[in-house]
Amino acid sequence: MFFERPASGEVTILVHITLETEYEREDPAEFEELALSAGAAPAVFITGSRAQPSPSHFVGSGKLEEIQAAIHAYKAELVLFNHALSPSQERNLESELKCRVLDRTGLILDIFAQRARSHEGKLQVELAQLQHLSSRLKRGWTHLDRQKGGIGMRGAGEKQLELDQRMIGQRIKAINKGLKKVRGQRDQGRRSRQRAEIATISLVGYTNAGKSSLFNRLTNAETFIADQLFATLDSTLRKIKLRNYGPAIVADTVGFISHLPHQLVEAFRATLEETAQADLLLHVVDAAHEMHPEFISEVDKVLVEIGAKSVEQLLVFNKIDLIANCEPRIQRDKNGRPEKVWVSAKTGAGLDLLQEAMSELLAGSMAQETLRVSPQCGKLRSQLYEKGFIENEHIDEQGFYELQVKLPQQYLDRIVQQEGAEILNNKHAVAEKSTAL
Ligand code: GTP
Repeated sequence: MFFERPASGEVTILVHITLETEYEREDPAEFEELALSAGAAPAVFITGSRAQPSPSHFVGSGKLEEIQAAIHAYKAELVLFNHALSPSQERNLESELKCRVLDRTGLILDIFAQRARSHEGKLQVELAQLQHLSSRLKRGWTHLDRQKGGIGMRGAGEKQLELDQRMIGQRIKAINKGLKKVRGQRDQGRRSRQRAEIATISLVGYTNAGKSSLFNRLTNAETFIADQLFATLDSTLRKIKLRNYGPAIVADTVGFISHLPHQLVEAFRATLEETAQADLLLHVVDAAHEMHPEFISEVDKVLVEIGAKSVEQLLVFNKIDLIANCEPRIQRDKNGRPEKVWVSAKTGAGLDLLQEAMSELLAGSMAQETLRVSPQCGKLRSQLYEKGFIENEHIDEQGFYELQVKLPQQYLDRIVQQEGAEILNNKHAVAEKSTAL
């Protein structure tokens, strides 16, 4: 009970300052969505512009008075800044305004703390929160009552409020240990998927683009969908069977955002790095959002940062049901490879085209052969069946299996090195490349 958020949401003053330096510039509309996602009840949006932030309070004295007046007028409990504040700026603001102040990083961390579902996700967020908190703890707690919970105080914030730096250090150590264990398990899972030669398709995209909706459509699953930022935090894996290709694993991952706090990129690095190991990235875009070109480049920046830029990418323009006269279609590059698909996860329009494009891209490395397998290699035959790689079979007079297979070239190369398996009639082999469409 003690830490429960007030049902009505905290009355909040939003502060957004337009700065001259491009890097520090944030988007005010996104800020409002973030605040609502965290459960805040914004009372007023204060904006302004400055060449540079003031080192002591981020804003100047005039703006400070304006914020103070708004706090009184609306009986606000929280002031949110759409900027990263230094610990001393936060402290100075709190003592001047006599109100709790939270910066953009704290806000995003809070949303992550609410959304994390898996054990690993929760640990990752708690670690990021503790790191953020420990830099702020150095200042000591201000007179403000931090015990009430609410935005910026959930997750680690709730549990660690009263702990000193040393205890936080211990907790960080314990979390790192826990993370090492779950990551080991995840690596094992990934290795066994690789051994099973099953391709992985990772959904990436700006937050709210519709990744979970598409994931559900593709896998007939029911993951949590909400019109909120960062509804998905932990990667979820599901197996699907693609027509003209075979089985594949689809992974839904965390949504990206501009200026994702550094602590979070760090904390989620292991999860994000899994994306770099995928065979294909579906970069989901909210085509109906006017800022989608900017979002595409923000996502590309994160992909570079996590080493996933060289993975093959298919751009999926989603939400075409919201765009007038936009039909589902595939756009191909000059070599005929699919590079963009227009779909609607909501109506299902274009999903057949999406599956076709995915199959084609993955099948770029597929081989089609007839394998002659000795009767002693029944295990190999059943493995091939299990993976859905056998299209037809025939038993010859000597009891050998003649299997018509379609499977990844690398896997085929390994099979034919085994005793008892050979490619039948090699000269007719059709190592097909599906780019010739
Ligand atoms: P994060 O978890 O924040 O990264 O979001 P996400 O990319 O997984 O998006 P999600 O699937 O949760 O969808 C976000 C919102 O967009 C939800 O309200 C969906 O119902 C809506 N949405 C998704 N696809 C479509 C679509 O094709 N058309 C329309 N109109 N809405 C869609």
